[in-house]
Amino acid sequence: MAELKNRRWLLAARPQGIIKESDFKWTEAPVAPLKDGQVLMRNLAFSFDPTQRGWMSMDTYIPAIPLGQPMRAGAVGQIVESKRNGFAKGDLVQGLLGWEDYTTSEAEGTFGIQKLAPGTDPLMALSLLGTTGLTAYFGTISVGQVKAGDTFVVSGAAGATGSVAGMIAKVKGCRVIGIAGGRAKCDWLTGEAGFDGAIDYKNEDVGAALSKLCPKGIDVYFDNVGGEILDLALARISNGARVVLCGAISQYNEAQGVAARPPRNYFNLIFHGARMEGFLVFHFARQYPQAIAELAKWHSEGKVKNKLDLQLGLENAPKTIIRLFTGANFGKQLLKIGDPQ
Ligand SMILES: NC(=O)c1ccc[n+]([C@@H]2O[C@H](COP(=O)([O-])OP(=O)(O)OC[C@H]3O[C@@H](n4cnc5c(N)ncnc54)[C@H](OP(=O)(O)O)[C@@H]3O)[C@@H](O)[C@H]2O)c1
Repeated sequence: MAELKNRRWLLAARPQGIIKESDFKWTEAPVAPLKDGQVLMRNLAFSFDPTQRGWMSMDTYIPAIPLGQPMRAGAVGQIVESKRNGFAKGDLVQGLLGWEDYTTSEAEGTFGIQKLAPGTDPLMALSLLGTTGLTAYFGTISVGQVKAGDTFVVSGAAGATGSVAGMIAKVKGCRVIGIAGGRAKCDWLTGEAGFDGAIDYKNEDVGAALSKLCPKGIDVYFDNVGGEILDLALARISNGARVVLCGAISQYNEAQGVAARPPRNYFNLIFHGARMEGFLVFHFARQYPQAIAELAKWHSEGKVKNKLDLQLGLENAPKTIIRLFTGANFGKQLLKIGDPQ
């Protein structure tokens, strides 16, 4: 095979505060010859996830990205060369790859690569039928235990996970209220996404709006943001409520990470016999096939929409990750650098 050039973004610095473009370094180098047991993938599309801020900073549920190594991302690629049994040229694969044109991998399992069915849409596999759609599914159904008639409130509601969580709760017969930043996002929630109400946390009094829209209290609160909004929701839970701890993006840029602002109104869990439970989507890995089938069915029926925010070009990866933390993204943040062949 002719020598391939690899353009790559390496992690240059651990972020201080919000991620900066200077936290990454652009390099170009030839692809090294493949060894036995390895596969070489041409990367097609990358997922952008708030958890990457953690991977850039410290060991979390996986080790931190070493400085000087390619930035790690959920991605779909296509195999261009294989020296590994079970993988062949042309196969589509998904896994934790790098911000680069080509990734060499020998890993398998939860944090390695998995084969996708031929003809899979890479963008769908990285959104509704990937991590964020599955997180919404298990967070709402398995952790949130939603039932018809519940008042369901979700923060980060116009994002990848929050929007799908709210639409699933609608499928299950809940009254759904979303909290998101800006009028355009809120209008989309009550329009296209079919929510019953939306609160613009950047321009409204969130506590007053929650009291008005949830007069009997909140039965399920799906939390993507933590901080002040979590406290305001905890102050309004109903008896037997479920508080789903999915993420806390308002805390990710703080020096002390998610411990920066502990919840203040947790005592309400005691008064209301309520439950607050965290989860990682990987905890439900065995149930992915059934969840993917159900999400695909709801999508084909028009009940659950898959709103994408698609950027283009590897050179734009650093600018794209920053969008998650400024709220510039509207729907699932993806970046495409190629098409399957
Ligand atoms: N537990 C798990 O396994 C798991 C898996 C995937 C994701 N998550 C978590 O789910 C949450 C959503 O992730 P996602 O991938 O779906 O991203 P996303 O919601 O599509 O994008 C992030 C959104 O967060 C909002 N945001 C940013 N800074 C904020 C702040 N200071 N306060 C309030 N909102 C803020 C922005 O929306 P606005 O314009 O509305 O501000 C932005 O669009 C994150 O907390 C993530 O860590 C957890």
